[in-house]
Amino acid sequence: MKPTPNLPQPHAWTLEDFHGRRELRKSSDKPGAGVRADWKSLRLPDGANSLRNQPLGRAVGKEIRTAVDATAGLGYDTYALALLGVEVLALERDANVFALLADELARAKNDAQLCAAAARIQIEHANAHQRLPTLREKVGFTLGLFTAREFILPDMILLDPMFGGERGAAKPSKEIQALAATVGADLDADALLDMAIASATQRVIVKRSRLAPPLASRVPDWTIKGKLLRFDVYRAGAR
Ligand SMILES: C[S@@+](CC[C@H](N)C(=O)[O-])C[C@H]1O[C@@H](n2cnc3c(N)ncnc32)[C@H](O)[C@@H]1O
Repeated sequence: MKPTPNLPQPHAWTLEDFHGRRELRKSSDKPGAGVRADWKSLRLPDGANSLRNQPLGRAVGKEIRTAVDATAGLGYDTYALALLGVEVLALERDANVFALLADELARAKNDAQLCAAAARIQIEHANAHQRLPTLREKVGFTLGLFTAREFILPDMILLDPMFGGERGAAKPSKEIQALAATVGADLDADALLDMAIASATQRVIVKRSRLAPPLASRVPDWTIKGKLLRFDVYRAGAR
């Protein structure tokens, strides 16, 4: 039997407000029990030091100062990059996911533990397919001691598209379900790789679940492996 239009579907996730904060809720969820971004759940007691030896920290290395997270989702990787001291522009194309990202950034800016890294994050509701080719004109990173914004290409671009709606189990499963149901598989992600390599000055990092084929079937220059995930690293040299 086909689902009846205009009636809430049993597994549909909708964006709802709960005391001024938005959450993705299933019809069976009580208010407040929906999915929000929660960067504190990353539990990094020793801040950047906790990250340096983890696969993402090793893939980023020590020389990256600016990055575009082109598939930001709930912003966990965006926050991790910012905690590593990187200035990040995060792009998210889905309006509901972007709402959760924006709420968490606003919350983080007012949180004593998160605010220093949050100050290094800018977010845009944008599709990377359209936005990456315009980075040269429109990205402003506030570098080091400079107070004015400089318009430059990012040192690094991170890609983490949904792979067949499935991932390892790096995050609580309710988040994965909500993301998978909301954005589905990012079937157009292959085309982002060439664009990213043409737009970053040092490297492009692609986060994949451990057994997934490389993005666009392109063999990476090197790979950093974690238990459930791996980071494929591609050299880039945009000028
Ligand atoms: C696997 S999630 C990213 C998770 C994220 N790395 C984190 O740490 O929370 C992929 C996200 O990328 C977004 N996305 C996919 N393709 C995109 C594109 N071309 N432009 C902007 N966002 C995109 C999807 O909407 C989805 O929210």
